[in-house]
Amino acid sequence: MSTLLDVRNLKVYYKTPVGYVKAVDNVSFKVKEGEVFGVAGESGCGKSTLVHSLILRKPPMTHMGGQAIFKGRDLMQLSKEEERKIKYTELSIIPQYAMNALNPTKKIKDIVWDIAREHGYEDRSEVEKLLRERLAMVKLSEKVADMYPVELSGGMRQRATMVVSTLMNPDLLIADEVTSALDVTTQRVVLELLHYFMEQGIVKSIIFVTHDLALLDKIADRFMVMYAGKVVEMGPTEELINSPSHPYTTMLIESLPKIGVRYRETKLKGIPGYPISLLNPPKGCRFYTRCPYAMEHCPRVEPSLIEVGEDHVVACHLYGGESNE
Ligand SMILES: Nc1ncnc2c1ncn2[C@@H]1O[C@H](COP(=O)(O)OP(=O)(O)O)[C@@H](O)[C@H]1O
Ligand code: SF4
Ligand SMILES: [Mg+2]
Repeated sequence: MSTLLDVRNLKVYYKTPVGYVKAVDNVSFKVKEGEVFGVAGESGCGKSTLVHSLILRKPPMTHMGGQAIFKGRDLMQLSKEEERKIKYTELSIIPQYAMNALNPTKKIKDIVWDIAREHGYEDRSEVEKLLRERLAMVKLSEKVADMYPVELSGGMRQRATMVVSTLMNPDLLIADEVTSALDVTTQRVVLELLHYFMEQGIVKSIIFVTHDLALLDKIADRFMVMYAGKVVEMGPTEELINSPSHPYTTMLIESLPKIGVRYRETKLKGIPGYPISLLNPPKGCRFYTRCPYAMEHCPRVEPSLIEVGEDHVVACHLYGGESNE
């Protein structure tokens, strides 16, 4: 499979009056054509910063280093004009609060026409025809085109947002916590739709961002786990879920409710402690304050990503590796 997105040593910080928040700090990964690539980790670890840094960054978010090669161009070097051009047509994001992402003062068809016009479409009836086709694909009535977002239920609004985001067949679709506010049944519908978009060739690849590993198990081919702005582990989904290597991944998986056990009977373990501040992170492993295996050199020496299996890497001194700074 060829590589669609190649992120190399990406650093994206927030500039604040008290210093830089190192939200994405030396992150590298590849998204292949035809795959669903997952990004996991607790709230605040940098997932949204990572995906939103790829297109139309706004201050205080600041690119501090590294590249994101997408279809031969470095996304970090594009002009705002170039970024606007590729948004929706080549790279599209369904944002974290997608339910509220649609302009409430406009009908769905007007929202879509605004986007299409900005991308040089001239025939409104063609665009509306496509919109109605796509609404049907996601099992929404054609009438939704003439409705305002507030007239739609949460699940319908979610599907409408997915239609708007994919109308121009972007190569890469980024879904940032799109299922978080939904009930389990609607979550499943959304996952099925994402699969369907890929099957139909509407999108080539998906980056699926979530704090919920159980969802990645269902949808992702491969995923990476972030902790405090860093990648701690990355590999094929089955291998990561069944034989995680990093203590943090292991704890995340152990904290999942077990299949077949009734919810009330499970004791959700949770992970004790809190992530470190990203304003002044330690030089070494950022997980050391919560790690049951922490060794003397862990806070001082940064563990680099090393291979522990085919296409499976982990950053932890339990597996060797030296500083990568
Ligand atoms: N505008 C901002 N200014 C300063 N810090 C921010 C800003 N937005 C996010 N952050 C910080 O960046 C870190 C990563 O946040 P985020 O990317 O939203 O994480 P996630 O999506 O994994 O929950 C957090 O520590 C958060 O507090
Ligand atoms: S490097 Fe050390 S502190 Fe970090 S996860 Fe591994 S053992 Fe734990
Ligand atoms: Mg987020």
